[in-house]
Amino acid sequence: MAAWRPPQVEELLAEARRAFLEEFGAEPELAVSAPGRVNLIGEHTDYNQGLVLPMALELVTILVGSPRTDGLVSLLTTSKNADEPQRLQFPLPTAQRSLEPGIPQWANYVKGVIQHYPDSGAIAARAQVCQRAEHSFAGVPCGIMDQLIALLGQKGHALLIDCRSLETSLVPLSDPKLAVLITNSNVRHSLASSEYPIRRRQCEEVAQALGKESLREVRLEELEAGRELMSKEGFRRARHVVGEIRRTAQGAAALSRGDYRAFGRLMVESHYSLRDDYEVSCPELDQLVEAALSVPGVYGSRMTGGGFGGCTVTLLEASAASLAMHHIQEQYSGTASFYLSQAADGAQVLSL
Ligand code: GLA
Repeated sequence: MAAWRPPQVEELLAEARRAFLEEFGAEPELAVSAPGRVNLIGEHTDYNQGLVLPMALELVTILVGSPRTDGLVSLLTTSKNADEPQRLQFPLPTAQRSLEPGIPQWANYVKGVIQHYPDSGAIAARAQVCQRAEHSFAGVPCGIMDQLIALLGQKGHALLIDCRSLETSLVPLSDPKLAVLITNSNVRHSLASSEYPIRRRQCEEVAQALGKESLREVRLEELEAGRELMSKEGFRRARHVVGEIRRTAQGAAALSRGDYRAFGRLMVESHYSLRDDYEVSCPELDQLVEAALSVPGVYGSRMTGGGFGGCTVTLLEASAASLAMHHIQEQYSGTASFYLSQAADGAQVLSL
């Protein structure tokens, strides 16, 4: 069984240039790319000021454009998955008139970044501008992981991010004998968007009950000792986060010394904790993980991202990838798609 091969940057760039020329009658003056990401470990820890360990993917979004002088912004998407309409035009925001989120939804990310970009001096970094855009224009109270890895990812490395200090360190991940397999369950339950803010609130409530600024400040013993100050559910949510932050630190250390077995064990612990304590997995993701774990050469596997559908990430010997894909598909009740990616670079300006 073959993994899905995403379009190469050159192909996407050519397509974007073609669409731009057709729409605006001139060549674009600027082209940039930004990668997707997969989180290896450290799930639902970023908004608790914890640690995360994602890597950037070779899968990218391309944007081309040119400046204009009439105060307007014209946007066009060529994505087949975007909602209608494909194009829209609006005036640049001013002090008196802000942009507002609306339809089409795909444009909200772009509008949000345009709206918040002038604040970038006040709020430290470009990643935070993009996070703000996601909060106020896409309506997701996300952490900072996605934006930071998209900016700072480096080829051949995962990135350990401390979401409290925003310090980052690169963790080498380029052993040719090792592969990272992303398996898309191709399901997305509607709970994904409604449960995320609930989890975030529950975590904040537990931290507050313990008199701490965030769960990052809480040790497992303190959580155990304060158990009666919170609901049973709140306790389990916090137990996931506190344990996951520790697993992420241990995972980064294990990966740095090439101890894939130890890393794999931590991935599996992470999955079970997300399934049982944090309750953001679903039967499809559990099936994919169990199927992966039964393949020789697999070090570990877990759900990745927000949960309730989406993808799993599996660390395995490169030579086992083909068998793993075959076996996972055989065991899975749905239709999975597979993607093997090296750790790639973050956002960059492309030459035209
Ligand atoms: C989503 C959010 C991230 C992070 C993950 C869970 O992907 O965008 O900020 O919270 O969920 O780890």
